[in-house]
Amino acid sequence: MSEKAFEQQFGELTPELQVVYRNIFRRRDVRREFSGEVVDRERLMRVLAAAHAAPSVGLSQPWDFHVIQDPARLDSFAEHVGHRREEFAAKLVGERRETFNPIRIEGIVDSGTGVVVTYDPTRGGKNILGRDTIDDTGLMSVALAIQNMWLAATAEGLGMGWVSFYHEDFLADFVGAKAPVRPVAWLCLGPVTELAKERDLERFGWRKGLPLEQVVHWE
Ligand SMILES: Cc1cc2nc3c(=O)[nH]c(=O)nc-3n(C[C@H](O)[C@H](O)[C@H](O)COP(=O)(O)O)c2cc1C
Repeated sequence: MSEKAFEQQFGELTPELQVVYRNIFRRRDVRREFSGEVVDRERLMRVLAAAHAAPSVGLSQPWDFHVIQDPARLDSFAEHVGHRREEFAAKLVGERRETFNPIRIEGIVDSGTGVVVTYDPTRGGKNILGRDTIDDTGLMSVALAIQNMWLAATAEGLGMGWVSFYHEDFLADFVGAKAPVRPVAWLCLGPVTELAKERDLERFGWRKGLPLEQVVHWE
């Protein structure tokens, strides 16, 4: 959102409220802007505390956070993702292929830290209050923890990028997760030089975001 548009819609709010909205609109999916430093333990733990404060169905808190900072392990995951990128690129034709080529889909090594978030559907026992009719609510809870992380990271001056170009069984083995526990995301997390104003996929012409009016439906 441009500064002008922000001022128009949120400029009249109290400074406290503006900080919240600013953080939401400043958040970016980060690939390119990692500074190369590694996040310090205190900041990392604050971001993970924000994740762990997320709402969860039946208070099941079905998430675990696996922190990976060993450069050799980061390299090894980046190599796996590189192959998945090639597979995806091979499916694209014409303009889509040209447009995809320069887009970075990961910042695994540059970020210095990977956080693999896993989902444990057995957490909280058999009868999870609220998951009885919609099993996906467990996975939804994990996504909310990730969004909390993303916003906390943004407020901390960190960048975060969600990588999903991987085979689930590879990542499960990588962090030693045994079924039914599933990896849900690899998150690149680290200090940044800046946060881009524009979304990468818009910047590179892959896809444009939709206007709010198109997705709000009254009555
Ligand atoms: C579930 C999920 C998976 C994603 N996986 C990838 C990915 O593998 N590679 C990538 O470059 N971006 C990935 N993204 C980032 C999206 O492309 C990005 O959020 C979207 O373009 C909007 O940009 P913004 O987050 O900066 O607003 C993922 C985002 C989500 C929510």
